[in-house]
Amino acid sequence: MRRTVRFGISADGELTERFDRAIAEGGYTNRSEAIRDLMRSHLVRQEWRKDEEVIGVVSLLYDHRKRELSRELISHQHHNEGRVLSSLHVHLDRDHCLEVIVVRGRAAQIKALAGKLIGTKGVKHGDWITTSLGRSL
Ligand code: NI
Repeated sequence: MRRTVRFGISADGELTERFDRAIAEGGYTNRSEAIRDLMRSHLVRQEWRKDEEVIGVVSLLYDHRKRELSRELISHQHHNEGRVLSSLHVHLDRDHCLEVIVVRGRAAQIKALAGKLIGTKGVKHGDWITTSLGRSL
């Protein structure tokens, strides 16, 4: 079991007040949890910068009536066999589909795949988030 370490932080009073207000608005009930999350975010960003094996979640909103678009999105995913862990397709309304794709691989490969998917002509909105395999957290 990992041990808990207690440590003190010295910081500017005004900065601390602003931080406390911001984390309260963000739903945190205490400063420690907010600081732990900042530490984890820093480690995840470092994994991405170092091109380590990471996880990404890509969301795509598109109109399925656009010719060839669905086929093209599926093709990008098949050409990245092994990197796409799972995908969820939601038929939002008569025209629109939302696809959420979980990908795993080296940071640079994941960035390239996310960019290709989001940049596919006809995708109305695409975004992606970066996360971690959790090994360094
Ligand atoms: Ni659909």
